[in-house]
Amino acid sequence: MSAPTAPTAPQPEILAAFEAAKGFMPVDEGLALYAAAAGAARLGLPLVEVGTYCGRSTLLLAAAARAAGVTAVTVDHHRGSEEQQPGWDYHDPSVVDPEVGRMDTLPTFRRTLHAAGLEDHVIAVVGRSPQVAAVWGRPVGLVFIDGGHTDEHATADYEGWAPHVAPDGLLAIHDVHPHPEDEFTGQAPYRIYLRALASGAFTEVAVEGTLRVLRRTGPGS
Ligand SMILES: C[S@@+](CC[C@H](N)C(=O)[O-])C[C@H]1O[C@@H](n2cnc3c(N)ncnc32)[C@H](O)[C@@H]1O
Repeated sequence: MSAPTAPTAPQPEILAAFEAAKGFMPVDEGLALYAAAAGAARLGLPLVEVGTYCGRSTLLLAAAARAAGVTAVTVDHHRGSEEQQPGWDYHDPSVVDPEVGRMDTLPTFRRTLHAAGLEDHVIAVVGRSPQVAAVWGRPVGLVFIDGGHTDEHATADYEGWAPHVAPDGLLAIHDVHPHPEDEFTGQAPYRIYLRALASGAFTEVAVEGTLRVLRRTGPGS
């Protein structure tokens, strides 16, 4: 059964919330992610994000899910990726839990979602992506991979989640850098993107900045 169709662009208040939220995704990529999520939501299946951080991109999946009457699921251990740890360029000291002494982006994420009025449309899973993928038991309309950027993590995200993408569903991958000099966090997302294409299971349908959107057009992964 197909779900109601979400508009192909986010409402102005959602875009404003996205721009105000902590996070790394630029607006052009956000608009492309929203369009992909809105299209995929028509399948009537959940939309899954790997890498919540403070909820910037989650807002877009949640808004698309709300419009189509489906649910967004976002997975993160909320302890930050390698490049977000103290001493690294992407570190934000305001998201360190002073009691525990480690990053904890969950409170900021919850405030982001609450302020946008989207809490009812998101299930937040706090845990490690491969463990969550291993217990996940149903097809997904869209998987958006924006988690750890090492080969170990990106590969585990791909291997854990790509098999769950439904026929005609979408696999979106963020931070795809074909040129090694473009980004110090590395090319692991680029390598899983190439792997998805080489599998024959996915066909590229959109490119925006470092975002790649692939459609499942065959079995496997
Ligand atoms: C680049 S940030 C996500 C940014 C977010 N999508 C946005 O647009 O603002 C990556 C996130 O992935 C999470 N992460 C990294 N490796 C993970 C893993 N193996 N399991 C779960 N979360 C992970 C980190 O905690 C971090 O919050």
